[in-house]
Amino acid sequence: MADPWWETGVVYQIYPRSFLDTDGDGVGDLDGIRSKLDYLEWLGVDALWLSPIFPSPMTDFGYDVADFCDVDPLFGDLATFDALLEEAHGRGLRVLLDWVPNHTSDQHPWFVESSSSRDNAKVDWYWWRDGSPEAPPNNWEAAFVGGPAWTWHPPREQWYLHNFLATQPDLNWHNPEVVAAMHATLRFWLDRGVDGFRMDVVHLLGKDPALPDIPDGTELIGRVNFHDWPHTHEILRGVRALLDSYPGDRVSVGEVYLLSTALVAQYYGEGDELHLAFNFPPLFAPWAAEPWRRRIGRVVEELGDRHWPTWVLSNHDNARHATRYGADERKTRAAAVLLLTLRGTPFLYAGEELGLEDAVVSAERVVDPGGRDGCRAPIPWTADAAHGWASDEPWLPWPPDSARRCAETQQRQPGSILHLYRRLLRARRHSPALSAGSFAWLDATDGVLAYMRTSGDDCRTVIVNFTDASTPVPLDGPWVVEVASNGVTEGSTFAGELPAFQAVVLRPAT
Ligand code: GLC
Repeated sequence: MADPWWETGVVYQIYPRSFLDTDGDGVGDLDGIRSKLDYLEWLGVDALWLSPIFPSPMTDFGYDVADFCDVDPLFGDLATFDALLEEAHGRGLRVLLDWVPNHTSDQHPWFVESSSSRDNAKVDWYWWRDGSPEAPPNNWEAAFVGGPAWTWHPPREQWYLHNFLATQPDLNWHNPEVVAAMHATLRFWLDRGVDGFRMDVVHLLGKDPALPDIPDGTELIGRVNFHDWPHTHEILRGVRALLDSYPGDRVSVGEVYLLSTALVAQYYGEGDELHLAFNFPPLFAPWAAEPWRRRIGRVVEELGDRHWPTWVLSNHDNARHATRYGADERKTRAAAVLLLTLRGTPFLYAGEELGLEDAVVSAERVVDPGGRDGCRAPIPWTADAAHGWASDEPWLPWPPDSARRCAETQQRQPGSILHLYRRLLRARRHSPALSAGSFAWLDATDGVLAYMRTSGDDCRTVIVNFTDASTPVPLDGPWVVEVASNGVTEGSTFAGELPAFQAVVLRPAT
């Protein structure tokens, strides 16, 4: 059987608010995405994941969903979405939506009803607990803002649980009516033709019904693991069966924010839970060979041949890697080689192909309660002051160097990081070794990672020099440089030495 598209393909994450505004309100929209499909096709990605586009009061910028089966008017409407999906499919681009199953907005009609009284049809759709208004039911803390993960609700004279903001009450997945209602939301979009879902914080879905305190002194990772409750796996099996009942390789990629590769591996089940799970430890690895070697090693060990890995360097919740690595484009370029040649599905975050750094957001312009505005800065498309946006002032400030780093300028420069991404994506698409092959380490000196990818007769060697010194890398046999992060001439015979902070993809000379 051929490998499914989500193993060989590359997914491009779009944060719709920040991609491109076509109607002048300062916030990106679906028509903005549609107008950039040419660009995305030119770049050579296989699928788009759109962060939430559903109606939302936007207290968590869309991750507080008020209706899972519609489009927020900020972005467009169902007709605009259908048009985008059709055009994307016409170009062979798949589209994934961001499903947020752990919680809804407090404005969602389900919560409005559930919170209205202690006697209604949705009374147990959320986690309600008795207690005194002074003492929350347990010691759990709300993510991002801190403080209790509980809010006292006078009409019911009860507490409700929210692992995130108070405006994001947790759904009770132990109630079969909630399961059925949430399955219906998946069907709604699958029937419209979407190719799958990124699934938000799925490790939180099942909960110990006793909701016990987290013991004092538990480290962050332990606190997170506390929410890794066995019932979640049953919930995910139900979701998987639903996806698999549709034709055409619909995919689930889960955000399992457990930071332990061994635990994350369990969320693939026996091939009956998530198709893919995010692998976050590398997102927090410094730019150094050893931490990366250990993290890659853990993926090889824990996922083995049974589960297909994923790789990510940046997303909408964390500082961009260009910023984390100290704004040195040599490192960002070498990182692109790594990301696009490891064994597994890479996830790109819109703008990383331009080498964008986080915006500097002044105190007056901070809007996210979790302080994640910098990585959500708007994408600059053109060099002029408006950068291709229809608005004078987008909802967040521009990232540094927008005129120089914009897509239009870089498309004209064959030496740009944008062209490097494009060449890497093309090399990957045309090489079974790179897109689907096995992975084996090669010997290399300290500060350098070298590995071989192989599929049948096809093979590639990848070398990444994490150090600030030119380093010899002796290899058997003549190799030709297929893609170089910068400096080394592509098409030349590899000379056995790699300059500081550079990376190459090599193919056999014959
Ligand atoms: C996930 C999302 C993040 C959101 C949170 C709550 O971590 O990536 O952006 O704030 O879930 O939905």
